[in-house]
Amino acid sequence: MQQTTFAIIKPDAVARNLCGEILAAMESAGLRIVGLKRLRLSKLQAAGFYAVHRERPFFESLTDYMSSGPVVCVALRGENAIAAWRGLMGATDPAKAEPGTLRRKYGQSLEANAVHGSDAPETAAFELGYFFNGLEIVE
Ligand code: CMP
Repeated sequence: MQQTTFAIIKPDAVARNLCGEILAAMESAGLRIVGLKRLRLSKLQAAGFYAVHRERPFFESLTDYMSSGPVVCVALRGENAIAAWRGLMGATDPAKAEPGTLRRKYGQSLEANAVHGSDAPETAAFELGYFFNGLEIVE
């Protein structure tokens, strides 16, 4: 089933000039980049994006971190794109992520784990809509 999912290259990875490598890994995995933008989130915008985590103890730190520098947002399309991108990212904690995954290769900590990806179709719809308008995703 063709799907579109949402990815973020997080501030730690953007700061270390890893965007090209991460975008290349997406394409090598058969995913198509159908939307792409670089931006700097405000604390409020980061809080809106991660609203589902607002009661979690790491929320303050996470939203500080996500607004600490530029991010690169990507809309990815392909066969089972949500699962495909999550597989390529690996587990949330880089220390537990499988060898060869992006978080294992590039993640520095549970928070600075290099990349984000939507975890379900409903989340993907919310996250894509949070960052892209209809004209900015070109299939
Ligand atoms: P992400 O996939 O972007 O979704 C929420 C983020 O919160 C997660 O990646 C981690 O970077 C971050 N985070 C920080 N602490 C935790 C934690 N204890 N459990 C899960 N996620 C955490």
